[in-house]
Amino acid sequence: MSSDAVLQIDNLRVSYRQGRAYHPALEGISLDLRAGEAAALIGESGGGKTTLAHAIVGCLPADARVEGSIRLEGRELGRPDDPGEREYRGKKIGMVFQQPESYLNPLRPVAKQVMEAPVYHRRWTRAEAPDRARELLETVGLPQIEQRMWDYPFQFSGGMNQRVAWAAALACRPSLLVLDEATSFLDPEARREIGQRVDYLKKEWRMGVLIISHDLTGVADLADRVLVMRKGNIIEAGPTDRVLRSPREEYTREMVEAALEEGSLRL
Ligand SMILES: Nc1ncnc2c1ncn2[C@@H]1O[C@H](COP(=O)(O)OP(=O)(O)OP(=O)(O)O)[C@@H](O)[C@H]1O
Ligand SMILES: [Mg+2]
Repeated sequence: MSSDAVLQIDNLRVSYRQGRAYHPALEGISLDLRAGEAAALIGESGGGKTTLAHAIVGCLPADARVEGSIRLEGRELGRPDDPGEREYRGKKIGMVFQQPESYLNPLRPVAKQVMEAPVYHRRWTRAEAPDRARELLETVGLPQIEQRMWDYPFQFSGGMNQRVAWAAALACRPSLLVLDEATSFLDPEARREIGQRVDYLKKEWRMGVLIISHDLTGVADLADRVLVMRKGNIIEAGPTDRVLRSPREEYTREMVEAALEEGSLRL
């Protein structure tokens, strides 16, 4: 494996506990992501995409069963309940969660939530932190920043909170950015804009980006590679153009055709 590998996942299996039984959600996933590369995970609802993201970030439920290997910049990730591990992941990985409200604290000003991690991990000083938070909020297109950055998430719209979550995810200048339906609350124009910015930062910072999305147009614009997930497995993978234009699996073909027909994808 080349030295610029950001993420290497080998035979990852995750099962959730349901009563006395375990229900498999990932059945042996392997994937690699390089610095400066964006890969998209697409596929059926309940296929295991968010589970994979949570396994990487280390926020699966404590009673989930996890087997296999996840390496970040060549270092094997250990148990996420170990404080040193949490710190390492917090510094290296930025994530935008599928539900921004579940991640943001409703009773803490948004600027503070953007500043928190980098003050700790990147040694931003208290004096410079507000300016740097303002810059990040500008990067992700939050409107009326001056007036609104000390407001609370409960005063924001879903789209505004999603932008705050983006700013917080980018704040530590992560090696790996994980985006789980990260533009679901944004209109198409805002999606394009934030997509262009992340594409720029991907190259500038040589960040690995893992995009999880049902928005195939966004995927077509941003991802270098596409992986199709179904029932806990990757059933098809390849360069974005190849997978979307000439899918090999019946399931992928049907998904692309449906998106083309309803107009949510143009190739
Ligand atoms: N915390 C949990 N406890 C028990 N089962 C879970 C939990 N989270 C997810 N699952 C189950 O794991 C499977 C995969 O779910 P996951 O959320 O990873 O799918 P997904 O691909 O992200 O779907 P979507 O596209 O709808 O977001 C599903 O069967 C789901 O019911
Ligand atoms: Mg999901």
